[in-house]
Amino acid sequence: MSETATTFGLDTARVVFGSGASEETGEHVAQLGITRALVVCDPFVSGSGLAERLQASLEAAGVESSVYDRIAGEPSEASVAEAGEAAREGYDGFVGIGGGSALDTAKLCALFATHGGELLDYVNAPIGRGTPVPGPVLPLVALPTTSGTGSEVTTVAVVDFPRLGTKTGVSHRHLRPALAIVDPALTVSCPPGVTAATGIDALMHALEAYTVSAHDTRARMSLAQRPPYQGANPFSDLFCERAIALVGESLRTAVADGDDLEARTAMALASTVAGIAFSGAGVHVPHALAYPIASLQHDWTPAGYGGAAFVPHGYAVAVTAPAVFRFLADAVPERCAAASRLLDGGEMLAESLARLMEDIGAPTRLSEIGYGADDLAKLVPGALDQRRLLVGSPKEVGPAELQALLEASL
Ligand SMILES: NC(=O)c1ccc[n+]([C@@H]2O[C@H](COP(=O)([O-])OP(=O)(O)OC[C@H]3O[C@@H](n4cnc5c(N)ncnc54)[C@H](O)[C@@H]3O)[C@@H](O)[C@H]2O)c1
Repeated sequence: MSETATTFGLDTARVVFGSGASEETGEHVAQLGITRALVVCDPFVSGSGLAERLQASLEAAGVESSVYDRIAGEPSEASVAEAGEAAREGYDGFVGIGGGSALDTAKLCALFATHGGELLDYVNAPIGRGTPVPGPVLPLVALPTTSGTGSEVTTVAVVDFPRLGTKTGVSHRHLRPALAIVDPALTVSCPPGVTAATGIDALMHALEAYTVSAHDTRARMSLAQRPPYQGANPFSDLFCERAIALVGESLRTAVADGDDLEARTAMALASTVAGIAFSGAGVHVPHALAYPIASLQHDWTPAGYGGAAFVPHGYAVAVTAPAVFRFLADAVPERCAAASRLLDGGEMLAESLARLMEDIGAPTRLSEIGYGADDLAKLVPGALDQRRLLVGSPKEVGPAELQALLEASL
């Protein structure tokens, strides 16, 4: 029998996609048997009247609901603890609506409401106690209002631990939403800065899942041992190739003209299919570097985020990516060339990506987001902690390589 893996799978949430799809939310929620739902969202959703429309749809379907909208910024240990308290009020289901921050918080709400405990119980050791999610959680319906994270179809909820200088998450197949309702019309109001940062996140999911080490180069494991990130495989390749092409065709337009529903629809599709791809195949070096890059910098003010000082996740991931793809080009040359062709008809992935980042106003160097040469060594340990991601790199990366990639990105 082969020493390397020969099987691979495709897991995803059920997805309903299309402009206007969110209007059917009440019916979907009722069909899942939910009678009393907590709507978990950020203040944009309640302030724009979206939460009210959603509650009306729930009420029309006979579902009682309350709104929790106290999510400000990307989830932190403190914000998740507060939302977790609100979740334990006798709900039998959850509706997460907003960007990845709201959707990830909603996943953790469903977890705490079903199985009790607190965040650190479920976060992997050594940061947390690493208790596996004991079983299925109460149903969650996820409606993204940004096109980037793919959280509506993934198993992971990401949380910042500023005291530890890194982000980490809880990942388990039971955390995957029962249903994703992807309505591109909900993303039209995203300002250009949010569209750029989230759009580049979607692209990075697809590029990393496309270049991660392939499933059939990995050791064969029993079903029980097999990690959720199984490596690049024919299913994830299909989704990645489509997502990369969609981003290449549409992200510049979505940033320049947010009302262009065709571009918004393409980006929403790209984000969801890239989410399906990376939650099966995995991501690698840029994501491992992104967690400390975001966690150790809370003094940079990105455009489009209402004056909040932090590095949006998509920028934290993409800022080292041109350097990473230059480094990996000899390990996965066909993949890098194919991705470049899909993105803008180019030949060098690093150059195609850098051109896109520049065109959409994304920071292209660590120095632009406030890092100096003396800070780089502090980022290496946080990236090394992301071993589950670094194992997917198609080329060996240790502390020296990470330091060199950071220097090349300064
Ligand atoms: N679970 C996953 O699979 C996964 C994957 C990637 C990233 N993440 C996590 O997701 C979080 C980032 O999510 P995000 O990038 O979607 O950003 P976000 O959820 O933090 O939202 C960004 C900003 O955009 C606003 N906003 C959202 N939708 C809007 C709309 N339609 N119109 C106007 N404003 C809108 C929000 O209020 C917020 O100010 C990070 O914590 C990241 O680590 C999770």
